[in-house]
Amino acid sequence: MKRLGAAIIGCGSIHGVHADAIEASELGRLVCVVDIDKQRAQASAAKYDCRWYVDYLEAINDDEVDVVHICTPHYLHASMAIEAVRAGKHVLVEKPVAISVSQAQEMAQESKKHGRYIGVCFQNRFNPESQKAKEIIDSGKIGAVRGIKGVVTWFRTKEYYTQSGWRGRFATEGGGVLINQAIHTLDLMQWLGGGVKAVKGNVSTYLLGDVIEVEDTADAVLFFKNGARGIFYATNCYTTNSPVEIEIDCEKATLRIYDGTLVMEQGKSRELLVTGKASETAYKSYWGRSHAVLIDEFYRAVLSDDPRHIISVEEGMESLKIIDGIYKSSSTGNVININ
Ligand SMILES: NC(=O)c1ccc[n+]([C@@H]2O[C@H](COP(=O)([O-])OP(=O)(O)OC[C@H]3O[C@@H](n4cnc5c(N)ncnc54)[C@H](O)[C@@H]3O)[C@@H](O)[C@H]2O)c1
Repeated sequence: MKRLGAAIIGCGSIHGVHADAIEASELGRLVCVVDIDKQRAQASAAKYDCRWYVDYLEAINDDEVDVVHICTPHYLHASMAIEAVRAGKHVLVEKPVAISVSQAQEMAQESKKHGRYIGVCFQNRFNPESQKAKEIIDSGKIGAVRGIKGVVTWFRTKEYYTQSGWRGRFATEGGGVLINQAIHTLDLMQWLGGGVKAVKGNVSTYLLGDVIEVEDTADAVLFFKNGARGIFYATNCYTTNSPVEIEIDCEKATLRIYDGTLVMEQGKSRELLVTGKASETAYKSYWGRSHAVLIDEFYRAVLSDDPRHIISVEEGMESLKIIDGIYKSSSTGNVININ
């Protein structure tokens, strides 16, 4: 099979995960990296033996580039993705797909108009425990989903925000713990539960208010399209990055996802369906282990023109709608319909 030529825009903390995955894939090769910080671009190019640019337009107009990975601050995702599909490139964009639902809608339109795929990096969907949970729920054998619980208790230091100035501000990050950290859990909850139609929630800034203008803590009740109810809590104010907890209460059994494992409880029986440790990765434990799988699947989808395993912009937008609803609910006190 042909190898797709790749460009990575943004050589910050996550870009090495993408570069390593491209190098490991039989379907891709890294052509160039881009960063407005010339030293970062040069250092990455030296490590991965590829070209470097400081202007992303040079990368998306590079004839050897087929796929553009967008690993830049959130506010740049939509404009860079749109420019790339207009230049005939496929795009893999880091989460969040964009900082507003309207930006994401424009990305979806442009992707269709130019016949190029845009995939969103929700790598945790590809974790074995997530895949197995989805398969069991969709098979119907444990009955309908009645409720889903999602809990994210992590910590971020003040330096995390001061070292990358785009974080912690609505204009550039688009929000706080919701859009940056907990978005993976909201995505998994809505994916496993079959879509959310309304939310009621609250956001607060408890500990980091002197460095950020966005929330460091949020909670919500999610009303699913099929009548199920979700409860959700997320904070960046804890003392460590605990494994995310997701519990799915179905009519005939309960599924629990925790730190790479999937447990199913049915009456008195308790079965360990997937074992593993999410923290066993060469990168930060809370990034999970599945970027390489997602990237390989994206390349396979592009090469075979079969988008079934791409997390589309429309899919990536669902968590953004939930986040937008939580903000609106927090300021009005109302239940907000999102779908
Ligand atoms: N999927 C995950 O688990 C995961 C984990 C971490 C980060 N991320 C996402 O990856 C993205 C990047 O995050 P990060 O932590 O690597 O950020 P970062 O601040 O470490 O890096 C961003 C890089 O983009 C560069 N940049 C800024 N403007 C640019 C421009 N116009 N052209 C080219 N380069 C530009 C910066 O100089 C910087 O090197 C964000 O969307 C973040 O949410 C995802």
